Amino acid sequence: MQHLVRAQELDRETIELLFSAADHLSHETTMPHAGKILASLFYEPSTRTRFSFESAMMRLGGNVLTTENAEVFSSAVKGEALEDTIRVVSSYADVLVLRHPQIGAAERAARVATIPVINAGDGAGQHPTQALLDLYTIQRERGTIEGTYVAFAGDLKHARTARSLAYLLGKYSDIRITFVSTPALRMENDIKEYLDRHAIKWSETDSLENVVEHVDALYQTRLQTERMQATSPARHPSRLTRELAERMRPNAIIMHPLPRRDEIPPEIDALPQAKYFAQASYGLQVRMALLDHVLTQQIDK
Ligand code: NCD
Repeated sequence: MQHLVRAQELDRETIELLFSAADHLSHETTMPHAGKILASLFYEPSTRTRFSFESAMMRLGGNVLTTENAEVFSSAVKGEALEDTIRVVSSYADVLVLRHPQIGAAERAARVATIPVINAGDGAGQHPTQALLDLYTIQRERGTIEGTYVAFAGDLKHARTARSLAYLLGKYSDIRITFVSTPALRMENDIKEYLDRHAIKWSETDSLENVVEHVDALYQTRLQTERMQATSPARHPSRLTRELAERMRPNAIIMHPLPRRDEIPPEIDALPQAKYFAQASYGLQVRMALLDHVLTQQIDK
C-alpha cells in the first residue's frame, strides 16, 4: 500500500494484518519510528481524526507537523494550488494525512506526492481510515464481521464514513445492509452498484422502526449540514430514541463516527449497546497499526 485514498483499495489480507497489529498495540508508547515525521494538513475541521493520527505518530516515536485550519493557515490563502502544497510538504515529512472539502482531493494529492498520502476525508467522498476503525469496532465488539446485519441511518448522501464502511463490508461474506434515510438523503448509486457486484444483500427504508430490532449494528450518522443547501432539514430524520434503542438485540451495537448532534440523545449512552466512544478510542490503535504499516513499507522499498 503506497497511498490510502479509497476504502475499496484495501484487500482482506491487509485489513486482517492491520487488525491483528491493532489488537497488540495499546496506549503504551512504542518507539519503532523515531525520527519519522507525519504532516497533517486539514482544510476542514476535525477533532478525533487529527488528534488520533497525531497521537498515533507520537506513540510510535515519530513527530508531527500540523495545520488544523489549512484553508487559512497554509499558502492556500495566497492562492497556492493543492498540488504545489503537496509537492513541497512531501519533502518535509515521511507520510501525509490530508482532509479537504473537495471530493477527489486526496487522489490529486497522491498523484503528485513523493510520500504516502492518507485520505482523512475528501468532502462527501470517502474517509477510509474511519471505515477501518469502524470495521475494527464490529470485530472487537461482536467477535466477527462475517454474518453481520448493519443498518446505516441518517444523511447517507453526504456521509463519507458510511460510504467507505459500505465498501469495506462488501469484502466480507453473509453481510446484510439496510440504508435508513429519507428520499432526499439516500445512499448514492455507486455504493449500491458496488454492493450488487459483491453479492451483498441491501435494502432501503425511511424509518428506523422497521429495522431496529433486527440489526446487529446500527451505524448512525449526523446531518452534514455544511454540505447541504440552506433549505435542507435541520432536524434529523431518523433519530434514535431511548424507546427505539431498548428494542435492539442485547448484543447489537450502536455506532457513530462522531461528532453527534441530536440523532443519538445522551440518555442512550448508558445502554450496553452504545459503543460510539469505544469506537472513537479504537481509532488510536488502528491508526498506529496503519502508520506503522505504511512507514515500514517505505523502509523496505
Ligand atoms: C466524520 C467525518 O469527518 O466525516 N467525523 C470523523 O472523522 N470521526 C463524521 C462527521 O463529521 O459527521
